[in-house]
Amino acid sequence: MDNVTDIINEFGECVVQVDGEIPVDLPAKEGDRFLFISHDQSFLTHGLHKYPAKFFPELPRWLIKRYSQQHDRILDPFTGSGTTNVEALLSKRNSVGIDVDPFSRFLSKVKVTPLDEKDLKSAQKSLMESIINYDPSEINEDDLPIFPYRDNWFNIEILYEMTYLKKRILQLDTTNEIKNFFKVCLSSIIRSVSNADDNCTRTVIRKKLNKLVKPTDALNRFTKTVLTKVPKMVEFSHNYPSDISIDFPEDMDARNIKYAEGYFDLAVTSPPYVNAVDYPRTHQLEMYWLGFAQESLTALKKQNVGTESVSSRYYKTRHEIGVPEADKVITSIFEVDPRRAYIAYKYLDDMRQNLSEVYKVLRKDGRYIVVVGNNRIRGQLFESWKYLMPIAEEIGFEVETYFGSEIIKHFIKIPREERINTDWILVLKK
Ligand SMILES: C[S@@+](CC[C@H](N)C(=O)[O-])C[C@H]1O[C@@H](n2cnc3c(N)ncnc32)[C@H](O)[C@@H]1O
Repeated sequence: MDNVTDIINEFGECVVQVDGEIPVDLPAKEGDRFLFISHDQSFLTHGLHKYPAKFFPELPRWLIKRYSQQHDRILDPFTGSGTTNVEALLSKRNSVGIDVDPFSRFLSKVKVTPLDEKDLKSAQKSLMESIINYDPSEINEDDLPIFPYRDNWFNIEILYEMTYLKKRILQLDTTNEIKNFFKVCLSSIIRSVSNADDNCTRTVIRKKLNKLVKPTDALNRFTKTVLTKVPKMVEFSHNYPSDISIDFPEDMDARNIKYAEGYFDLAVTSPPYVNAVDYPRTHQLEMYWLGFAQESLTALKKQNVGTESVSSRYYKTRHEIGVPEADKVITSIFEVDPRRAYIAYKYLDDMRQNLSEVYKVLRKDGRYIVVVGNNRIRGQLFESWKYLMPIAEEIGFEVETYFGSEIIKHFIKIPREERINTDWILVLKK
């Protein structure tokens, strides 16, 4: 294993570094910690669109190969941008991705749908010609999409350019699959041509940044994106196995999985962190442009595991999850912030429902692999991964093993206790 070495990190801790592809038979003892260095984040369709807290592809690839066989059925109940599904496909496994977010399902579907090279390139040519002949007078004010604070988020020239591009995509004389691919390309530039901060998971305008968006930026960025992403899609389509199925059901939730008992051979997921990323808010501009949301995102927010949208009637009293270590932390949070205490409790309660649903749909001896980190709530360290283990056991899982995956971007000089420096990989066996 040439790419595996033992290193001491800057905090004096012993870590196994794996550079690139993770060997399927990598020795991994309980509690081992790994630093995986990814080279594949834009491999094939993986880099089509940003998504907060997405897997680096080598991780689900390794877990899928290690814990399943070709043609098995893999589930990701919090599928996000579909990294697990792309990897399942490339390893010739069938898969299902569940996510409450319509943008997630749309993006994931595009990432696993092969396209005919000739048709794709001909549609690309036609779009590029439209861009060369861009004429804003073809767009009326009525054509502009309507959504909250639109004119704060986007400069007027950009609104016209985006509307023109969207119109041209919809007018293409091609398949819906190809149109959807170009919609994802368009979506992938939205944040950069908006007035919002590009590097924040929340969609916010920071005046201090003085972000400069110029006329023609949308046209130019879209062109660049198409030129880099079409070849990736072509290569992906050439690698597409013929007899594999992938589904993203619309009517399911990680807490309500409508498949038959024992249907899946393996589940691999990374659930949201408690109270860390507000997914609907992160993607609000993309959702508005793609037509997945018009007004309020509250209903979708409420469906999210880890949501901050909770009603005050629930947090007047303290709730207990039944795991002493977790309840101790929840009690300390309750003393300073009852609302946050309830959010933390609800997260574990939602995850209990998820674990129990996945238990039901897994076959006997099948594994549920959950990649989950820690975070801080009102100054208290909230170690979700530790609390999930007794909950999983109570449901019937055996905790087969667990190991850590260091998060590279947190290897910066932040006081140790402030870092969310490790994601924990729990291997639960039915
Ligand atoms: C950490 S992300 C998953 C990222 C994914 N591993 C990837 O590589 O893109 C968590 C996802 O859980 C989804 N989610 C939150 N609550 C959910 C629920 N109740 N049911 C299904 N999905 C949910 C969010 O929309 C988000 O896409």
